[in-house]
Amino acid sequence: MNFSDSEIVASVMTSQGFDITEKQEEADIIFINTCSIREHAENRVINRLRELQHLRKNKPGLKLGVLGCMAERMKASLLEDEELGMRIDMVAGPDAYRQLPGLLDDIEGGQQAINVMLLADETYADISPVRYAAGGVSAFVSIMRGCENYCAYCVVPYTRGKERSREPGSIIDELRQLAEAGYREVTLLGQNVNSYKWRDNGSGNLVGFSDLISMAAEVDPGIRIRFATSHPRDISEELLHKMAEYPNICRAIHLPVQSGSNAILKKMNRKYTRESYLKKIEAIKRILPGCAISTDIIAGFCSETEMDHKQTISLMEEAGFDFSFMFKYSERPGTAAAKKFRDDVPEHEKTRRLNEIIQKQQEISLASNKKDIGKTFEVLVEGSSRRSKDNSMGRTSQNKVVVFPSVNFSTGEYVKVRIDSCTSATLKGKVV
Ligand code: 5AD
Ligand code: SF4
Repeated sequence: MNFSDSEIVASVMTSQGFDITEKQEEADIIFINTCSIREHAENRVINRLRELQHLRKNKPGLKLGVLGCMAERMKASLLEDEELGMRIDMVAGPDAYRQLPGLLDDIEGGQQAINVMLLADETYADISPVRYAAGGVSAFVSIMRGCENYCAYCVVPYTRGKERSREPGSIIDELRQLAEAGYREVTLLGQNVNSYKWRDNGSGNLVGFSDLISMAAEVDPGIRIRFATSHPRDISEELLHKMAEYPNICRAIHLPVQSGSNAILKKMNRKYTRESYLKKIEAIKRILPGCAISTDIIAGFCSETEMDHKQTISLMEEAGFDFSFMFKYSERPGTAAAKKFRDDVPEHEKTRRLNEIIQKQQEISLASNKKDIGKTFEVLVEGSSRRSKDNSMGRTSQNKVVVFPSVNFSTGEYVKVRIDSCTSATLKGKVV
């Protein structure tokens, strides 16, 4: 989501005559687009800002701006030199990107400027993102912003504001432009895509996510469509049937479970149970055979016992996730969990539980990858493999990474690869 937002920032700035540089020494202003989801993410931002301070020695006029969630969470405190031990010139929240040129004017004479207003209807629908960092194959398209689910641990509803959907015509136009520019894969982004909703003023018709995704799939059968993230409460069988109709909608669903224990899920305010989650998994496997399922898991949420943790491990086995993003619980100021519960699982215990979860996921991923040996997959070539130029890498519809010897094909092509070996993270094979 931040990657996509930075492309919007780039668009706002370039439309005002600014240029983007890849060399930080050349920049007159550096924006850091920030994440507040865990303390670790914020610490990385602070370290990055510290690293940038030395550039000011050679260029005293260099301006630094903090954008995004951390700007929204910390607001004007970021402008106090004592807060981070350095001077920040500008602070702009996730809904203030249109105002960046004006804020730059404000800081020209050495003053500081801030805009952290959240707007209930900002979707940047009319702004064409500048794809400055993408490889030309795969692009992100935001379809909605904000979140109102208020999971007890999560800072997003406070930093990104109310949930709002983007007008579907502008989404489809952006997809058409991407198709013309040669893109082969688009990921539709939102905190909770299954609650996408747009009521057409003229006809009064309601466009839901199932409608939007079929419109997206029909733009160009040569473009793969992915989406993230789905909320387990809201994902519907209607969507799964829609996905089944279109071969270019990827067979991959990211469905964050967070915990396998009903007591913890309730405390997290996730609004589903272990049993209802597993029913959704069963529906995915029934309606979309061969669909990959990935998840997010938090280890050591407030009051989590060893029994709760074991329930998470057993749910991982039952669901058979192909990949997971796994985290230690990190208390976020202002959230319901920070206000109501004690962060009482000791750090060493969180680490141990996280390590068990990671190990379990590696076992399950390896078993899932082994089942792919001997099968042939359509792979979208993304470029050279990181390890060797003689190999190419790409992804299957299931979002699994495949490495294979480079022959006669180029980035952005679909090739058929027969899998002959694997690790827990990668499939290896040859083009057939
Ligand atoms: N601590 C740890 N992980 C968190 N996530 C969100 N908030 C927190 C937190 N306070 C994780 C969830 C979410 C993913 C994007 O980040 O698993 O799905
Ligand atoms: Fe955070 Fe929950 Fe919203 Fe996801 S659904 S962004 S975890 S509040």
